[in-house]
Amino acid sequence: MSADRTALLELASALAVEAGEVITDMRDEAVASPDTKSSPTDPVTAADRKAEQIIVDGILAKRPDDGIVGEEGTDRTGTTGVDWYIDPIDGTTNYLYGIPAYSVSIAAAVDGAVVAGAVYNPVSNELFTAKRDGGAHLAIGESGATAKSIRVSSPDAVASSLVATGFGYRSERRRRQAEVMAALLPGIRDIRRFGSAALDLCAVACGRVDAYFEAGLNTWDYSAGALIATEAGARCHDLRGGEPTTHFLVATAPGIDSELSGLLRDLAADDLPD
Ligand code: IPD
Repeated sequence: MSADRTALLELASALAVEAGEVITDMRDEAVASPDTKSSPTDPVTAADRKAEQIIVDGILAKRPDDGIVGEEGTDRTGTTGVDWYIDPIDGTTNYLYGIPAYSVSIAAAVDGAVVAGAVYNPVSNELFTAKRDGGAHLAIGESGATAKSIRVSSPDAVASSLVATGFGYRSERRRRQAEVMAALLPGIRDIRRFGSAALDLCAVACGRVDAYFEAGLNTWDYSAGALIATEAGARCHDLRGGEPTTHFLVATAPGIDSELSGLLRDLAADDLPD
């Protein structure tokens, strides 16, 4: 089966918007009775599960033999070389509280390399997209026709940079992440913690922040956003010279990459307890 990047991106984008509309419609009912997952503060709702089902069904209707990994438990091995990473609601805590910063995140990888990604914020109606070697775009409103090309910011020093980050759900990890944050904060413009890794990466992509880093993400949190940030000109990697991993990810405007990465390395920001 063909793995045309444009077709993969169109499918990812359409399903992200469809799932986004469903989670919006379901919100009142879904937030009334949330469950928890990895810790008492890690929420999941009926809307997360419903949106994942819609996305999985939509992928399989068009591409029945692809692999799919989803936050709410989907784990299908495919035979086509195409794998999908889906987060039906990235930022479920924000969804629960009605903070308008949550998203649907869908990425498609071919032979292990992410080639298409879509991140949709249903509250702001912003759809961020990228395909590998095709640049990154932001469409606001109903029509993809209004999509504009996006680029990272151009800071030249960490001291004047706005840096986003996030924290895991387990308290022993948060303690370590807080130590890193406390050490970094005096030397930067300010910190932002928006609460959706996918949107954080899109914020780097369109220059709303200068950098974002986090340890301990899952592939569904960052796969689409990391491609969007990279295609918008960001440097996106771990702290050991490799691709971003579930261990650590930093995405920065190029002008501060080496300085910020050096600081994070000195702080052993990727050294999280299991
Ligand atoms: C979380 C968000 C958050 C990040 C956490 C993620 P979820 O995803 O992306 O910003 O700091 O590490 O787990 O649980 O809302 O899908």
